[in-house]
Amino acid sequence: MHFLPEKIDEYVVAHSEKEPELLKELTRETYQKILQPIMLSGPYQGRVLSMISKLIRPKTILELGTFTGYATLCLAEGLQTQGEIHTIDVNEELVDFQRKYFDRSNYGNQIHQHLGNALDIIPALDKTFDLVFIDADKPNYSNYFHLIINKLNPGGIIISDNVLWHGKVVEELNPKDLLTKALLAYNTLLKNDERIESVMLPIRDGLTISRKK
Ligand SMILES: C[S@@+](CC[C@H](N)C(=O)[O-])C[C@H]1O[C@@H](n2cnc3c(N)ncnc32)[C@H](O)[C@@H]1O
Repeated sequence: MHFLPEKIDEYVVAHSEKEPELLKELTRETYQKILQPIMLSGPYQGRVLSMISKLIRPKTILELGTFTGYATLCLAEGLQTQGEIHTIDVNEELVDFQRKYFDRSNYGNQIHQHLGNALDIIPALDKTFDLVFIDADKPNYSNYFHLIINKLNPGGIIISDNVLWHGKVVEELNPKDLLTKALLAYNTLLKNDERIESVMLPIRDGLTISRKK
């Protein structure tokens, strides 16, 4: 999804950091073997996630929605030496694919995969986090926020993906469109919750960065 004019978009990408080779390979294999490869964060958003993580230098990261591990590897680039990233996905068919790329990266033993519904796994994680990336099923975004806010360290950051939902959040709402409805409610929640401050960025399909006060 591009919100910028195509030429500007191309210029922005051309003047941003290049995608690492391993991620290019991961992307190729995802497109060859996995359904809905469009779910990958992709090269530009991936470099944005990497940069944010490097600015924060988190000790602990939580990702909701691993898919084939693209964003996991981007976020891991900013981890402290002893840091760890926990990533959750409900699709067991992706586990071996993810692990193959995690082990080929520099962060293999810092990445902890969790298989199952994030709604069940988050409460069982006895950890607090410096950075959380929410990129799993959209209807549960608000539930995820409520589950993680008390596990987020003061000054900790939540990055929420797809908050513009292909631009549908500014169009007339079809009452049957539950995904757009869920994202509208989520965006309102982030704007109004006094425990955080948020900025929405028109990057790809929309990323909101929220900082716990
Ligand atoms: C958009 S993809 C994630 C993309 C990935 N973060 C990236 O940037 O490359 C969403 C993923 O969320 C997973 N998912 C959906 N519902 C889930 C749930 N309830 N718990 C955990 N994972 C879930 C899907 O299996 C899918 O792999």
